[in-house]
Amino acid sequence: MTARAAHRPVGSVTRGTTNPNRLRRMDRWIAHAHGAELRRAADPVAVDLGYGAAPWTSVELLGRLRAVAPRVRVVGVEIEPARVAAAQPYARDGLVFRHGGFEIPLPQRPYLVRAANVLRQYDEDEVAGVWERLCARLAPADPVTGSRGGLLVEGTCDEIGRRHVWVALGPEGPRTVTFATRLGSLERPSDLAERLPKALIHRNVPGEPVHAFLRDFDRAWAAAAPYASYGARQRWIRTVRQLTADWPVTDGPARWRQGEVSVDWAALAPRS
Ligand SMILES: C[S@@+](CC[C@H](N)C(=O)[O-])C[C@H]1O[C@@H](n2cnc3c(N)ncnc32)[C@H](O)[C@@H]1O
Repeated sequence: MTARAAHRPVGSVTRGTTNPNRLRRMDRWIAHAHGAELRRAADPVAVDLGYGAAPWTSVELLGRLRAVAPRVRVVGVEIEPARVAAAQPYARDGLVFRHGGFEIPLPQRPYLVRAANVLRQYDEDEVAGVWERLCARLAPADPVTGSRGGLLVEGTCDEIGRRHVWVALGPEGPRTVTFATRLGSLERPSDLAERLPKALIHRNVPGEPVHAFLRDFDRAWAAAAPYASYGARQRWIRTVRQLTADWPVTDGPARWRQGEVSVDWAALAPRS
């Protein structure tokens, strides 16, 4: 292998579309679900992988994570060199930008890798390999301290962050799928189908678990219609409570109130 090939970032340059505040729902969830791990880590490094044409999401991730874990440092990693150069003026205490790809060009194993709207532009059959590579880079679990190790959050959202779906993975592999939405803009839960992450979006067809889940979600939403008079939030809470009868929902009303619900990955994983 030539020295040049050895240092070539792993992955492909894709469209750099981003927006300020687009990933606020994902940031909030990460702060809630992973804040304690970040707080107690000796070197809490978080990677914003594929931050795009402007580094707004990295700047915001730093601010939101520091609110729960003040020692966090964020590294924005981008495969397109011009986007790395354009980001440099935004570097600050706790935030640097590096050229790189799925190999994650850092000496340490990060406690968080967030890849939002990155894999969407890859082929479905590339996802498993990328997940495996990224999970292998996460900080390991430590049975002595009880740490579950680093977290990979990989998913998709619309241009202004009203609809999100992401998968959370630990060093051992996929854990949960989270659906998050601005409830006021929702007609039915399956509106989120168009934002399913790459691993699931092509599986929203009869016979696949994610299709059955969204069908049941819509049915529960229709059954909860009388609660709409108390507001979309009450209707969503009622809907998710109904879903728990048949699906392994992993969170509770405090998250449902935010327009979220998380489900065990194993229940939604593709059949083949
Ligand atoms: C659509 S933008 C997403 C920007 C931001 N994460 C967001 O959600 O608003 C996708 C970015 O990921 C970058 N990208 C694609 N593959 C990558 C890889 N393997 N490593 C690092 N960046 C990558 C692309 O160059 C592009 O700038």
